[in-house]
Amino acid sequence: MIVGGRRTELLERIAAEHPGVETVRIDTTEAGSIEAAAKDVIARFPDLNVLITMAGIMRVEDWHRPETFLESAEHVVTTNVLGPIRLIAAFVEHLRARLDATIMTVSSGLAFTPLAATPSYNASKAAIHMLSESLRLQLSGSSVRVAELEPPSVRTDLLPGQADNDAAMPLDEFIAEVMSIIETRPDVREIQVERVKFLRYGEARGDYDEVVSTLNAADPMVHRRVR
Ligand SMILES: NC(=O)c1ccc[n+]([C@@H]2O[C@H](COP(=O)([O-])OP(=O)(O)OC[C@H]3O[C@@H](n4cnc5c(N)ncnc54)[C@H](OP(=O)(O)O)[C@@H]3O)[C@@H](O)[C@H]2O)c1
Repeated sequence: MIVGGRRTELLERIAAEHPGVETVRIDTTEAGSIEAAAKDVIARFPDLNVLITMAGIMRVEDWHRPETFLESAEHVVTTNVLGPIRLIAAFVEHLRARLDATIMTVSSGLAFTPLAATPSYNASKAAIHMLSESLRLQLSGSSVRVAELEPPSVRTDLLPGQADNDAAMPLDEFIAEVMSIIETRPDVREIQVERVKFLRYGEARGDYDEVVSTLNAADPMVHRRVR
C-alpha cells in the first residue's frame, strides 16, 4: 500500500510505524504535484493496480455573503473535484495496462441529500457520484472497475469537532463494515454502509423531503457554525 499526503513528517511517521506501507508526497490541488507523484509511484511500483482518490475537504459556508464563501467554494471544488479528475487522468493509462485494476472514488451521503451548511461540498460530492457512474460506463470494456465509496458522517477530522461528534459513525466501525463489504462483494459498484442508506435512497424511497429535514435538524454542530 502507498499512502499519499502533503505532510512529510506525518508520512515519515506512517512509514516508520507501519513497515511495508510506502508513502508519496502529493498535494492534490496542484496539477504538477499530482503528475510528479504519479510518475514516481508508477516507476517505483509498476504492479500498482488500485487508485483511491480519498483526499477531500469540507467547509461550512454562508451563501448570503459571497466575500466569505467564494474562496472556500473554489478550494472545495479544486480539492474535491479537480483533484480526483487529475489523479484519474494521471493513472488511468497505467491501470488500463494491468490485468485487473480498480479506481475507487470517495463521494458522500451528502451527494444525495444536501446539508444546508455546506453547499459546495455537497455539490462536489454529487459531481464525484456522476463522474464515477460515467467513468464506469466508459471503462466497462477494460480491466478497470470503478467503485464509489459513499460514507455517512464518520468521526474523522473532516470538520472541527467531528471526531468527537456522537452523531457521527465511529471510525473503526465504519472501516470494519467497509472492509467486510469489499471482502464479501468485491464487484460492488457503490460501497454503502447501512448508515448511509437513509441519505442515499431518500428519493428512491419517496421520503426525500423528510430526509432533508431530518438531516438539517439533526446537526446542531454545523448549524451553530454557519450562523
Ligand atoms: N468523515 C466523514 O464524515 C465523511 C463523510 C463522507 C465523505 N467523506 C470523505 O472521505 C474522504 C476522507 O475524509 P476524512 O473524513 O478522512 O477527513 P480528514 O480526516 O480531514 O482527512 C482528509 C484527508 O485529505 C487530505 N487532504 C486534503 N487536502 C489535500 C490536498 N490538497 N492534498 C493532499 N491531501 C489532502 C488531508 O490531509 P491534511 O491532513 O494534510 O489536511 C487528510 O489526510 C474525503 O474525501 C471526505 O470528503 C468523509
